[in-house]
Amino acid sequence: MKIHFPENFVWGVATAAQQIEGAAFEDGRGPSIWDVFSRLPGKIKNGGIPDVCCDSYHNIERDVALLVELGVKAYRLSFSWSRILPVGTGEVNPAGIAYYKRLIAALKKAGIQVNATIYHWDLPYALQVKGGFGNREIIGWYLNYASILFDSFGQDVDYWVTFNEPIATFVGHAKGFFAPGLSDEKYARQCIHHLLVCHGEAVRLFREKHLPGRIGVVVDVWKHYPARPECPEDIASAVQNNEIEGYGMFLHPLFLGGYSEILTDYMKKNDLTPKMEPGDLETICQKLDFYGLNFYNGLYDNADEQRKAAEGGNFQNRPEQHLEAVYDVLHMLVREYKIDIPIYITENGIAQDDGPDRAAILNDDERIAYVAETLRHVRRAMDDGIDVRGYYLWSLMDNFEWSAGFAARFGLYYTDYEKMELIPKKSAPWYRSVIAENGFEIAD
Ligand code: BGC
Repeated sequence: MKIHFPENFVWGVATAAQQIEGAAFEDGRGPSIWDVFSRLPGKIKNGGIPDVCCDSYHNIERDVALLVELGVKAYRLSFSWSRILPVGTGEVNPAGIAYYKRLIAALKKAGIQVNATIYHWDLPYALQVKGGFGNREIIGWYLNYASILFDSFGQDVDYWVTFNEPIATFVGHAKGFFAPGLSDEKYARQCIHHLLVCHGEAVRLFREKHLPGRIGVVVDVWKHYPARPECPEDIASAVQNNEIEGYGMFLHPLFLGGYSEILTDYMKKNDLTPKMEPGDLETICQKLDFYGLNFYNGLYDNADEQRKAAEGGNFQNRPEQHLEAVYDVLHMLVREYKIDIPIYITENGIAQDDGPDRAAILNDDERIAYVAETLRHVRRAMDDGIDVRGYYLWSLMDNFEWSAGFAARFGLYYTDYEKMELIPKKSAPWYRSVIAENGFEIAD
């Protein structure tokens, strides 16, 4: 059976600055919260630090050649705030602007659309010292940064993303295992509120500038389902993971306006309600041009299993795949969150553990099966009328996978970090053929 996509479907791959660029302290770049966090003992698997990563800062031609080889129509990248503004505000770093100018020019020359994220987790460390997202001044800092980007690159960027996966900011302030490494839920809730206001204000600013591109936001949805649909504990766990600590925290205020009743009650009861100013909730809920869905898996919560895992008895390192959840999630976005704008799958992919057997990693049938299966369910939702316009695979090459360091390999291309070579895995020519043929064959 052939799974076929519409002629103008946007095929792409995604990366992010902190994960691929390297050159962490070159040409005037200032440290980000991840540069600092990664140096704290025990925070990153095998002690990986993102100083060099894939060295993309020095390898624009190499990276663009791979994109051309794949035949992608669009490339999703992010800007490093501390490369543009080394201390987050004040003096602009001309070398930072020049780097992104060269990169974007090379993409345009190759006929590749640019999908650029303003903020993908890498706050300038100097701003964290001043309270980061917990300080309401972040709104001015972020707007100043966004304004510089709009003015410098606004004629060439096709899609702007204000924030990638704001959940990372929650995790970094409430759970401690992402930068900046804090465990203070009240502060985290305040950070998220400010982040959402930053988003809304940036959309307004973008509209005022009348630039040619479109603007949206990327929220990942890891939908949790009760493993035993009748079990109150499983149901409670799914609600907690979806509404209180998951996508509901963002989608409700962004698309429906205001925090959901469940979250509002929870925050009140636990004294976690953020300080808000009049008009904030309206600011957050702006009409967008598109929504970016990062989808990796659907999860089934079983309270008994979770207890065992917490006791250390039965830790499931690799949860079962429930890729069919993407079909339900796409429907949910339209039905429950009233999303009536084009949707792009802005990330989807699977990691392989690093290990000495390179040949096994290069032979990534698992990735091919994963992507094909996700796309099959995306296509089903499109057949029902859900307006999905494109798909970006995460990621072009193996890179710095945050707390997992360099131990998790998500790339279509294998990164040899020693020789700094990128080697195609089996999935690379496969994805090239999907793009060329606008689809692929699967067994009936
Ligand atoms: C993030 C990426 C990350 C990927 C794989 C997403 O959560 O946006 O930065 O590398 O998933 O974990």
